[in-house]
Amino acid sequence: MEAILLVGGKGSRLRPVTEFTPKPMVPTAGVPFLAHQLARARAAGVDHVVLATSYLAEVFEPYFGDGARLGLRITYVHETEPLGTGGAIRNAADALTCPPDAPVLVFNGDILTGLDIAALVDSHRAAGADVSLHLTRVEDPSAFGLVPTDDTGRVLAFTEKPERPEEIVTDQVNAGCYVFRRSVIDTIPAGRPVSVERETFPGLLASGAHLHGVVDRTYWMDLGRPAALIQASADLVRGLVPSPALPGRTGEFLVLDGARVDEGAKLSGGTVVGAGAEIAADAVVDGCVVLDGARIEAGAQLRASLVGAGARVGARTVLDGTVVGDGAQVGSDNELLAGARVWCNTALPDAAIRFSPNC
Ligand code: GDD
Ligand code: MG
Repeated sequence: MEAILLVGGKGSRLRPVTEFTPKPMVPTAGVPFLAHQLARARAAGVDHVVLATSYLAEVFEPYFGDGARLGLRITYVHETEPLGTGGAIRNAADALTCPPDAPVLVFNGDILTGLDIAALVDSHRAAGADVSLHLTRVEDPSAFGLVPTDDTGRVLAFTEKPERPEEIVTDQVNAGCYVFRRSVIDTIPAGRPVSVERETFPGLLASGAHLHGVVDRTYWMDLGRPAALIQASADLVRGLVPSPALPGRTGEFLVLDGARVDEGAKLSGGTVVGAGAEIAADAVVDGCVVLDGARIEAGAQLRASLVGAGARVGARTVLDGTVVGDGAQVGSDNELLAGARVWCNTALPDAAIRFSPNC
């Protein structure tokens, strides 16, 4: 079974996390997020993956190589100009070896899900569909691709990021995993940007193609925003969604080799501490991602936050729902809440910012 993984997006909504690291390479539960996706694909029977890269493309191959370590064959296809999701699928398909009738899996590179991939392929075959789509139900569908289906699962429409309230006709959204009949990919125009969501799917529907939707209620998270990425990491550490790539046992925290955690520090909520990172006495770190070489000083209190590689969080500083970019220095006695983002390699002096009225 062959798969295409779309990993060329800029990850703008994750900045500054994606300043020096493309979104799929951001460490999540101790390894680049892509490692979890590749391991899950492998476990579902995929043996050849084509990585469709564009933004910061050069970092993928040195890490994953030919894929042998993961029991996979990986081919890298690079777009010098981003081709969009559909253009990337078309471009990557040149590296596939399967026949025209074979099913090809396509994954968005930023989705953590417990989806039974093999069951999706079985359902695609049973339906005799041209394309099958994994769908999930969300509370606010407006940020996604809306996919209403009839009671047999046949897709009736595809509306990417609806702008008018009357377009919101369902809470079923495109969950970012497809099975294409190979010959259908070959109908996507080559050599120019194409959006699979805005052009290919609506075009296929208009021409009478059979698109089949499979809705399920399994774990699903799009890691496009910092809060989601931090939550996904914590959920992987705690085993809420199993991943063969987790570098350790599931539990309340995961400390990578070479990290130093003081006995008086408290780690919880699926926190991961990267290699060479330090957590000082009386620090409380709950549901956080602390990347390699970061330093959390005494008495700091961190919740649902990400601290970038080599960054420092000063003594008694409080972070809640905050991102500290790689190499940034946050002085002591600060308080950063509710989506604050400190840019890479910047410095915030001691006692510079508080959000709450006390002290
Ligand atoms: N190679 C390549 N080239 N990859 C790309 C490009 C490109 O030009 N543009 C985007 N991608 C990759 C991204 O890296 C990501 O893995 C995937 O395509 C989807 O792009 P996002 O930017 O994350 O899209 P989104 O989250 O706004 O919306 C998509 O995902 C939703 C589910 O999370 C759409 O597919 C929606 O319909 C869907 O509901
Ligand atoms: Mg996304």
